[in-house]
Amino acid sequence: MKDSTLLFLAFAGLWFLAVASAGNFLQDFDITWGGQRAMILNGGRLLRLSLDKVSGSGFVSKNEFLFGRIDMQIKLVRGNSAGTVTAFYLSSQGPAHDEIDFEFLGNLSGNPYTLHTNVCTQGKGNREQQIRLWFDPTMAFHTYSIVWNAQRIIFLVDNIPIRVFNNLESIGVPFPKNQPMRIYSSLWNADDWATMGGLVKTDWTKAPFTAAFRNFKANACVLAPGTSACIRTASTQDSGWQDQALDASGRKWIQWVQKNHMVYNYCKDVKRFPKGLLPECKRSRFL
Ligand SMILES: *[C@@H]1O[C@H](CO)[C@@H](O)[C@H](O)[C@H]1NC(C)=O
Repeated sequence: MKDSTLLFLAFAGLWFLAVASAGNFLQDFDITWGGQRAMILNGGRLLRLSLDKVSGSGFVSKNEFLFGRIDMQIKLVRGNSAGTVTAFYLSSQGPAHDEIDFEFLGNLSGNPYTLHTNVCTQGKGNREQQIRLWFDPTMAFHTYSIVWNAQRIIFLVDNIPIRVFNNLESIGVPFPKNQPMRIYSSLWNADDWATMGGLVKTDWTKAPFTAAFRNFKANACVLAPGTSACIRTASTQDSGWQDQALDASGRKWIQWVQKNHMVYNYCKDVKRFPKGLLPECKRSRFL
């Protein structure tokens, strides 16, 4: 065999290992709460969270990441899911933590879910947006992704960008870039606020409520424990996230989402910010 063939085989083998190890819940996650309500199935390829009157449930990644692209396929709670919240987010720890959030607010049967997103830097959030999805997220798995690099954060649904949060430290907007984050997910009862400010209560006769997760992928910088060194990316094949930005088509999609599917935008809420909108709201058309 020629050297180049050997080299090729070596790379092919590494690639296979990286991809194969990317999607296993047994290997990559710990159940954080809810006991048997969180179940890892099919040899680690599927994870199911459930919620009953006693408790919800949740899980967290073993690894910490500093920048990357995280994909998760989720099938949300079916039927009358009003009062339930399913969350998928990145977060660091402590009072000055950073957080990048997807939260799915359930609704009465036949009524649409709300997808709530937020970015928290050094413990401060207040940057909520809400959209209605253009499909029923309970019928099939859909892919929810976070691209996080030093320049921006992009939220994607089925690879369609729905939000971008740019690094505007140059005009004094804090941006999460120093604290490594873990991936979290949870399903809990929030009928005190999630459904029309607490008006609609969770229907416990429908419990347990369940949401399913699969095909998790982290193309990300993984930190060696106790260091700030990036030791590897989970998949060496795809590092496009490192400088991923919105191209013309991405900007069109965000405009489409804002025009047709957005129900709340902190950048438009002058009542809430009577002394003036946050600085990034004046800066970019694509918030
Ligand atoms: C539930 O659906 C109603 C009717 O479309 C909508 O007004 C309400 O905001 C929805 N609630 C949530 C939590 O998405």
